[in-house]
Amino acid sequence: MSESVEDLLRQAKQDLAEAGDLTTLEGIRVRYLGKKGWFTQRLKELGQLSPQERPAVGKRLNEAREEFERCLEERRQILRQEQLERRLREEVLDVTLPGRSRGEGGLHPVSLTLHRIEKLFINVGFQVAQGPEIEDDYHNFEALNIPPLHPARAMHDTFYIDHHTLLRTHTSPVQIRVMEKGNPPFKVIAPGRVYRCDSDLTHTPMFHQVEGFLVDEGVSFADLRGILDEFLRAFFEQDVKVRFRPSYFPFTEPSAEVDIACMMCQGEGCRTCGQGGWLEVMGCGMIHPKVFEAVGIDPQRFTGFAFGLGVERLAMLRYGIDDLRLFFENDLRFLEQFH
Ligand code: PHE
Repeated sequence: MSESVEDLLRQAKQDLAEAGDLTTLEGIRVRYLGKKGWFTQRLKELGQLSPQERPAVGKRLNEAREEFERCLEERRQILRQEQLERRLREEVLDVTLPGRSRGEGGLHPVSLTLHRIEKLFINVGFQVAQGPEIEDDYHNFEALNIPPLHPARAMHDTFYIDHHTLLRTHTSPVQIRVMEKGNPPFKVIAPGRVYRCDSDLTHTPMFHQVEGFLVDEGVSFADLRGILDEFLRAFFEQDVKVRFRPSYFPFTEPSAEVDIACMMCQGEGCRTCGQGGWLEVMGCGMIHPKVFEAVGIDPQRFTGFAFGLGVERLAMLRYGIDDLRLFFENDLRFLEQFH
């Protein structure tokens, strides 16, 4: 019997050495140590031996089993390690590859331009005011010296909601709302959306304006010129050529339109300026006495200027964009360029 224990242990160790993976190893464990395994069987059979033989054989069997268990554990560690190394080798993961980045949002070029305009005026002491986009006829027209049937109404292509409610066609009603509520001096800008029933290559039904006005004693047209010259130079960061062209608005007198020398062609004439060499960027003038009367300000004592500029227009010129529609299509390839 003791002879066969030695043989068996040798055989068992050889089986362990030959086991190439953990599943095979488990099979070997069951074969030797399981309920019907070799060691288990032999230990059960001890009862059949004589009392003299039993202790020595039992001791030897137990020792052999313990040794087998040790070898089994050793082999298991080796196979585990091998398995791990194989996985590390085969399942290559290049941790230096760049990750998938999350798309980062940015401001729309119209917003960027609005913020820039606001900042420049705030820097010289203007306050920012807002008014409703759904406006009444009185603030959008009448108080601005545009009575019913006035021909200037035709130019506004108004979206009417009902007889006296409309989508504001310009930011000038904010002049009225601010002056109604307060007392001069005023030094205010009013940025916002405006609406006109007009849609073609160079017009969209919604666009943005910034209104500006300054009211105090002794304000003159020279102040208007000075402020707008300075603003345009600061906005474009270059010595732009500015021209004031006589014009007409019912709410200003005298009125002017402000042109700048086309930045695309430096005044040579191109598609952007319609070959004229000049680009209109805003309307302006001295606030009409009738407007002051409508808001209860004494036109004998106070004077003021007002201007209204188109934000998309300025954004196109600053960024060199030659198609207005790009602002409204929300094509990411366009928008991503303004990060
Ligand atoms: N509200 C005018 C427009 O939309 C612009 C303007 C504003 C003109 C203020 C003069 C003074 O065309």
